Amino acid sequence: MAKRQPSFACQSCGAVYNRWKGKCEACGGWNTIVEEIGAMSAMAGPVATRPSRAKGRIFALEGLSGETKEAPRMPSGIGELDRVTGGGFVHGSVILIGGDPGIGKSTLLTQASAALANQGHRVAYISGEEAVAQVRLRAERLGLGQSPVELASETNVEDIIATLSQGRPPALAIIDSIQTMWTETVESAPGTVTQVRGSAQALIRFAKTTGTVVILVGHVTKDGQIAGPRVVEHMVDAVVSFEGDGGHHFRIMRAVKNRFGPTDEIGVFEMSDQGLREVTNPSELFLAGRDLATAGTAVFAGMEGTRPVLVEIQALVAPSSLGTPRRAVVGWDQSRLSMVLAVLEAHGGLRLGQHDVYLNVAGGLRISEPAADLAAAAALISSLSGSALPPDTVYFGELGLSGAIRPVAQAPARLKEATKLGFSSAVMPAPRGDKKERLPVGAASMAHITDLVAGIAA
Ligand code: TYD
Ligand code: MG
Repeated sequence: MAKRQPSFACQSCGAVYNRWKGKCEACGGWNTIVEEIGAMSAMAGPVATRPSRAKGRIFALEGLSGETKEAPRMPSGIGELDRVTGGGFVHGSVILIGGDPGIGKSTLLTQASAALANQGHRVAYISGEEAVAQVRLRAERLGLGQSPVELASETNVEDIIATLSQGRPPALAIIDSIQTMWTETVESAPGTVTQVRGSAQALIRFAKTTGTVVILVGHVTKDGQIAGPRVVEHMVDAVVSFEGDGGHHFRIMRAVKNRFGPTDEIGVFEMSDQGLREVTNPSELFLAGRDLATAGTAVFAGMEGTRPVLVEIQALVAPSSLGTPRRAVVGWDQSRLSMVLAVLEAHGGLRLGQHDVYLNVAGGLRISEPAADLAAAAALISSLSGSALPPDTVYFGELGLSGAIRPVAQAPARLKEATKLGFSSAVMPAPRGDKKERLPVGAASMAHITDLVAGIAA
């Protein structure tokens, strides 16, 4: 074991220093460096865990039944969750699920545990935050009180591993949450980076040796990072974020990293009083309650992984009283908005220098596709002109800096989804191969957009 010496770890990114500093050089955070005893020993790699000290107590929700079927993947039966993991959990993999408090992580994982336990898998739900009675209460509320899930309220990783090692290894073990766990191999307080890393390390080793799927719940800080150790993100096989908008019932699950599957698929859920309900057609949900006669909204035909998703983009362009007008964007990229505004000004002749601009993606969805440029531009022009866009039209296309509208992938899938939802026309780049694909550079191409979009204004 490495020599014990004082060490200082950044609580935000996990960087280790041998003396205190005010600012972390690795992540730039201020006042994030804290002295941690034994940090170096945790860094030194695997430390032998005590083989058995069965201190943890297991409470059965009901009897145990069935046998684990060995398949490369273990689908949970919750379609939206399986879509994000890439078709089910891979045996022996470790998944970190991050999300704001109260977003529904424990709810979803209770549902997933029950679903797998009902299929005959051995499933253990270890809560470090709630008592067994509270976990059981939630399961009952979800109508899952009869599922044979093993529950334990425990925070010591050695005890948890000893408990899980009794009998056949569980197919799935849920650790809610990794920040409440502590390992005896590290002397720092629970919740510190060193403890979280040490605990995660031990649990990952357990998953790899037994083939158990381990799901770690991680809390998220204000700025959307999984609190504490970014390092854990590198250690696990998949990082999944569970996000949602406080004002909405939608919850969106997205794989940020996935060693065994895609990272661009999303899972959409709706929080109901009976837990999370799968939303198999998110477009309908995102477009529900759309105000057809308002200026400043455009429907974007987007793609999330292999699935087309229609979503409303809302813009508000209003005269500004500020020297530097405001630019605010929710659900999209701020720099992308600046670029679209610059293109509209340079090539479309729009004057937005004296206007505040707000852009919002309805329903709490976050879009990262450049294909949203055209829909954003349409919403901005519509808001500026004060006239509503035709309600039966969808928009998609990437805007080049030259003002050209560039083709985007999977146009047929986007159009198909739009047709399915009752849209009858689309403003989109000319299909590939067509001469009109390359619109003339400069004002002409923008005139084309403004025509297309503001034809409505006429
Ligand atoms: P929870 O799963 O405890 O969140 P997390 O583990 O991410 O902190 O969910 C808590 C919220 O979900 C809480 O505000 C109540 C709500 N909820 C429902 O609306 N319906 C339900 O069936 C359940 C169990 C919770
Ligand atoms: Mg919870």
